[in-house]
Amino acid sequence: MKDFKIFAGSSNLPLAGKIAAKLGMPLAKIEIVRFADSEGRVRIEEDVRGKICFVITSFSNPVDNHLMEFFLICDALKQSEAEKIIAVIPYFGYGRQDKAYRPGESISARVVTKLIETMSIERIVTIDLHSDSVASFFDIPVSQLFGLSIFQSEIEKLKDDLIIVAPDAGGAKRAQSFAEKVNAPLAMVEKKRNLDKIHELETLNVIGQVKKKTCVIVDDIIAGGGTVVGAAEILKKFGAKKVFVCATHANFIDGAKEKLANSSLEKIFVSDTILVPSAQLFSKLKIVSVDQLLVEAIKKVL
Ligand code: R5P
Repeated sequence: MKDFKIFAGSSNLPLAGKIAAKLGMPLAKIEIVRFADSEGRVRIEEDVRGKICFVITSFSNPVDNHLMEFFLICDALKQSEAEKIIAVIPYFGYGRQDKAYRPGESISARVVTKLIETMSIERIVTIDLHSDSVASFFDIPVSQLFGLSIFQSEIEKLKDDLIIVAPDAGGAKRAQSFAEKVNAPLAMVEKKRNLDKIHELETLNVIGQVKKKTCVIVDDIIAGGGTVVGAAEILKKFGAKKVFVCATHANFIDGAKEKLANSSLEKIFVSDTILVPSAQLFSKLKIVSVDQLLVEAIKKVL
């Protein structure tokens, strides 16, 4: 393997640490300082000249801070003459706004991809983008990993009369890929969002035969929890026996924990692409690591 180092932004040190340990090395030394006015400063504290440098960071809450910190890390690596920079972005924030859903909106996913490209990055490794069009905005190669695959063995353990459910039309392709993996049929919930009111939605109907079935809702992100909890309610109305959730990114906002914990959901599987603070943990939540998935992707790039 070529000589490489693993750097981590501050968004998810436990995941970055696990990945580095699996690759048999400590995280490379970096100083990340935040001044009282919230401005950041970054300094590389190792010799990276001629080395391949991986930067692991999620664009999670606070998204803009983590994004800016990432830019500073990349710049510091360039100044220190790193040979190649490879960005490992387990959760790609800003990925939801991949088009102007209402006239006058900025296409923030495209803005972020264009900014990232100014950093002379060689490749992006990421997991379950909200939309494939985000990858197509990049002119550099993007390895998009299928993060939901880490839940396969947990779901296969359920063995029951399974059906995989997309919680909205936008998630149908993702749910279909998962359904094929676990060899189960597919259903879909019809969801309507109020684009003028953030986090407000309505579930209208279920397409597919869910009666007496064990439903597994598959989604990329949980934020407020409204999508999966709304889907669970309507699935129950249509006769579902039990409802589980697999969602890659636990992008929990205030109130998500209570909403999910008090819902009819049996269990919620999420990954560790985003670090879930201990105050947001609850007994129905099961976190499965993407560490091995990312280790394999890193080895492939080397
Ligand atoms: C939306 O299209 C996404 O795939 C997720 O369903 C959404 O971001 C989840 O948000 P919330 O948990 O707030 O309903």
